[in-house]
Amino acid sequence: DECRGERETWKDFIYNPTTGEFLGRTASSWGLILLFYFVFYGFLAGMFSLTMFVMLKTLDENVPRYQDRVANPGLVIRPHAAEILFNSSDPSNYNQYVQELHNLLHQYNDSIQERNDLCLVGEYTEQNNEHIKKVCQFKRSMLRQCSGLPDTSFGYAEGKPCIIIKMNRVIGLKPLGDPYINCTAKRDSLLQMQYFPPEGRLDKMFFPYYGKKAHPDYVQPLVAVKLLLTRDDYNIEQTVECKVEGSDVRNNDDRDKFQGRVTFRPPNTNELPKVQ
Ligand SMILES: *[C@@H]1O[C@H](CO)[C@@H](O)[C@H](O)[C@H]1NC(C)=O
Ligand SMILES: *[C@@H]1O[C@H](CO)[C@@H](O)[C@H](O)[C@H]1NC(C)=O
Ligand SMILES: *[C@@H]1O[C@H](CO)[C@@H](O)[C@H](O)[C@H]1NC(C)=O
Repeated sequence: DECRGERETWKDFIYNPTTGEFLGRTASSWGLILLFYFVFYGFLAGMFSLTMFVMLKTLDENVPRYQDRVANPGLVIRPHAAEILFNSSDPSNYNQYVQELHNLLHQYNDSIQERNDLCLVGEYTEQNNEHIKKVCQFKRSMLRQCSGLPDTSFGYAEGKPCIIIKMNRVIGLKPLGDPYINCTAKRDSLLQMQYFPPEGRLDKMFFPYYGKKAHPDYVQPLVAVKLLLTRDDYNIEQTVECKVEGSDVRNNDDRDKFQGRVTFRPPNTNELPKVQ
């Protein structure tokens, strides 16, 4: 009857023994379809690989393809915090800052930097033609009281904290003049600060930088600033602004300056740090 007939056609559709068709197509028809897709996707994969290959070939591995209109480095401040808030009599309060500074400075350990080259002070270290670029030494111990070496708390325990400033790497940048970091506290009275290296100098010997691939062990010069806060400064919000000065590096637009805010809470009055 009808129902049986329908089942027969359905079965025939899946596999028809008389014509040898499977799902309405013969084996050779299926073969052609598979072959078509195989060739088609193979072609797509080939096109993709070829395009990638050509693109990667034309990229210079040392110079980023797209650079900012004018390459101007920004400043980075460590510890990384919009506000540095701490209670100098309670180490758990400032341990994270201290740890961050230690982590930053590991690659500047004297033992590591001694493997690098001594370069000429005040001169660019140009080495465009050298295959292996030398790296100029920047020893952690140059940061003296802010090196974390004699004083492992970077001054946080005595309420005179250090911050460390570095300039972002820009390939090929050669700042004119004699760049240095200048920090100012935004307040009426002067806030005494101590710079390491002296005068906050960013020596020209650390420029230019040749990129990650050519210059893998390169270290940026650092400037550490110790804020010589006094008792009167505790519990007052301090805003400190640091800039690169003395060179053609732009520092007057919002992208290039960094504003660090430093806020301090007073330590327990019975445990005031001794002011030397
Ligand atoms: C600072 O830490 C000390 C020691 O833990 C504590 O006695 C004091 O109350 C803290 N001060 C503030 C303002 O949190
Ligand atoms: C760098 O020196 C510090 C302090 O001497 C030490 O704790 C740290 O393990 C050293 N780091 C490296 C990478 O050598
Ligand atoms: C640092 O900046 C302040 C404010 O802009 C300025 O008065 C001072 O002369 C600068 N110091 C140096 C050494 O350039």
